[in-house]
Amino acid sequence: MDAVDIPVVAAGGFHDVRGPAGRARYGAAGIAMGTRFLLTSDSTVPDAVEAPYLAAAVTDVTVTTAVDGLPHRMPRSELVDSLERSGRTAALLRAVRHAAAFPRPAGLSRPRMVCDRRAMRHGKDRAWSQVLPAATTPMPLKASMVDGRTDTGVMASGQVAGVIGDLPCCADLVDRIMAEAAAALDRLTGGRTVG
Ligand SMILES: Cc1cc2nc3c(=O)[nH]c(=O)nc-3n(C[C@H](O)[C@H](O)[C@H](O)COP(=O)(O)O)c2cc1C
Repeated sequence: MDAVDIPVVAAGGFHDVRGPAGRARYGAAGIAMGTRFLLTSDSTVPDAVEAPYLAAAVTDVTVTTAVDGLPHRMPRSELVDSLERSGRTAALLRAVRHAAAFPRPAGLSRPRMVCDRRAMRHGKDRAWSQVLPAATTPMPLKASMVDGRTDTGVMASGQVAGVIGDLPCCADLVDRIMAEAAAALDRLTGGRTVG
């Protein structure tokens, strides 16, 4: 945090007050929570998709390149197992198929997509075989997160899914974290006001 003079937002693995407390210790201005807000009753993600997240233990959340050649963190499932059995060539072929189908649903022209991919490669040591899947990941992501297709979709996840087992509404979640923070602060200060 000391290396830059702009506010830093910490992200990854936060789900309760230990996250905000930890980031305060390291000096971050705030935190981002992805998976925690995904798993709320206000989230529009279909119930069928939320269920494997809620059921997952920490060791059930895995990182796989089997979907399209890029690493995706997601709850282990029959889909992941069968994709991993199908191998890397099949993953790249899937990425090409997604690339061919991607511009229409995304409202992008093919020339525009190629331009964007070139920009992603610019100045970085990235092969087309990496950039192409990155461009098309929204297809399998939409299949699960929007359409509820757990059989074909990528269920992007933080490792923290393994310790989340409830679906509070966002307001209750924020209230809970604030109450935990106040209690933690009280414990630290012995109830004295810090100013
Ligand atoms: C629904 C969802 C979609 C995500 N999509 C992407 C993505 O497109 N690219 C990426 O690099 N990470 C993606 N992630 C991973 C997050 O950026 C983040 O690294 C991860 O969720 C850890 O934060 P968390 O513990 O608060 O969830 C996604 C995570 C979720 C839950």
